[in-house]
Formats: sequence, structure tokens, C-alpha cells
Amino acid sequence: MQIVRGIEELKEARKTLEGSVGFVPTMGALHHGHLELIKRSKSENDYTIVSIFVNPTQFLPGEDLDSYPRREEADRKICEIAGVDILFMPDSADIYGEDEVTLKAPSYLGYILEGSRRPGHFDGVVRVVMKLFGLTRPDRAYFGKKDAQQLVILQKMVDDLFLPLQIVPVETVREDDGLALSSRNLYLTPQERQKALVISRSLKRASRLVMAGELRSETIKEMMYKMMEEIEVEYVEIVDRAFRPLDRVEIKNTIILVAARVGKTRLIDNIWL
Ligand code: PAJ
Repeated sequence: MQIVRGIEELKEARKTLEGSVGFVPTMGALHHGHLELIKRSKSENDYTIVSIFVNPTQFLPGEDLDSYPRREEADRKICEIAGVDILFMPDSADIYGEDEVTLKAPSYLGYILEGSRRPGHFDGVVRVVMKLFGLTRPDRAYFGKKDAQQLVILQKMVDDLFLPLQIVPVETVREDDGLALSSRNLYLTPQERQKALVISRSLKRASRLVMAGELRSETIKEMMYKMMEEIEVEYVEIVDRAFRPLDRVEIKNTIILVAARVGKTRLIDNIWL
């Protein structure tokens, strides 16, 4: 595995790759969710590039940029064992310059739900991912359904800007008890972790309700809020794949989303129906 930090070094390394390239952008503190993306990329491409970059522009003032888990040594080993070809770990100063041309997230999709709680977050995401695409020039890029809104926005970026690559969505990886894997789970105390389980349980219950024929969004949301009474729910939303709110669940076109705080930790999860 080649470990690359500088921009020029990456461009050189990329040039030597002949064949298809899969790209997995991450912010590190790698877990089995990230590994699933890497595995998928390896199975579909000749080469796999992983980036680890805690992107400052997608954190709002007061968010966890400084405390975001950084585990370079462990991450490096994980990538090595997973068979990553190039691990790109740039510095912020290499990625960002002064008075730059910038991209913005779409004004609807980028500013609802996660985007309304974290205004500007998706501007930072599209900005960095576009740069990373430019550097790695992938044939396919892998993103988790766990960050549903991010995935849909990046798919739209690829469509709107006619980028010559394919976005590949990957199913959410969960612990045995249902908790969606997230680097931010490292913040949870054992008690908080236990409390956080109601999030995935409420999503699972919602999906069972739908299977049993209950399609009314209000009824499903009510049930979910009730199940999550013990934690601080920010939103429960039922939307279609373009993130327009739905009064009734449409099978194969629905995402149910939850954002909640457990203690100081903000968690998101969702289910695609
Ligand atoms: P990060 O949170 O490190 O996530 C990197 C990728 O892993 C994302 O595509 C995310 O959806 C996916 N992922 C996280 N948890 C997952 C899980 N439990 N199952 C499956 N996939 C999971 O998302 C980011 O970083 C950043 O915003 C980034 C795209 C790298 C831009 O900075």
C-alpha cells in the first residue's frame, strides 16, 4: 500500500494506475462500515484509493472538528490489511487555498433536515468531495446509505456537473444489536450506547408497521417519537428518494430518517423502504 500525503505525489501515483479505480472518501476512525465500502470497491475495480481527511469546511463553528477521533496508526493498518492500493492523507493546507472557486450544495436538498440543523455542512461536503474526485479521478466512488442525504446530494452533484464517474450506494453496516456503526459512536458511554439503541429499533418497528400495511407517515412518526421518548429527538422524517416529504409511504421510494442527541452525541440513522 502506498501512503500519500502531498497533492503532487497523489497525482503521480494516480497516473501509474492502469485500469479501473474505485474511491472511498472517509474522515478516518475507520470501522466496519468503512470497510464494507472498501471491500465493495475492491471487488468492482482494479485499484482502490481511500482518503482520510477530517474536512474542516463541513464542520460548523462549535461542532466537533477538534475532538473528532483521529486514529492514524490504526487506520493505516486497517487499510493495509483490507488491501487498499493508495491511502491518501492530505493536510488541510494542501487541500484548500485562498479565494477559491467553490461549489454549493443545492438550495433545497442541501438545506433541509441535516442541512437545516447544520447549515453549510453540505457545502463543505460537496466542496471537498469534488476536489477529491478531481485528484483521484475514480471510475466509481462508494458512499454509505447511513448518510442518506449526503449520498443523494453527491449523486446529484455527479448528475448536475456531468462527472464521468458512478456513485455506488452501500447498505448501512450495523452492530449485532442494530446500532448503526459510526465514528461518533466512540463518544458514547456504555449507558448512552444502550439508550441509543431505540433509534434503530424504532426504524425497524416502522419498517414492520409498513410491511403490515400502515402507510400513513403521521402514524408511523408518532409511534417512533413515542419509542424514542428517552432521548432528545431532533427530527423524524419520511421522505421520497429526492427528499420530498411524503404523507404516505411509497414502497421502494421512501427513506425514514432520524436525527437525535444521546447525551452530547448527535446520531443519525435511516431506513430505505
Ligand atoms: P465518514 O463519516 O468517515 O464516512 C465515510 C463513508 O462511510 C461515507 O460514505 C459514510 O456514509 C460511510 N459510512 C459511515 N458509517 C457507515 C455504516 N455504518 N455503514 C455503511 N457506510 C457507512 O461521510 C464522510 O466521512 C464525509 O462527509 C466525507 C464523504 C468523507 C467528506 O468529507
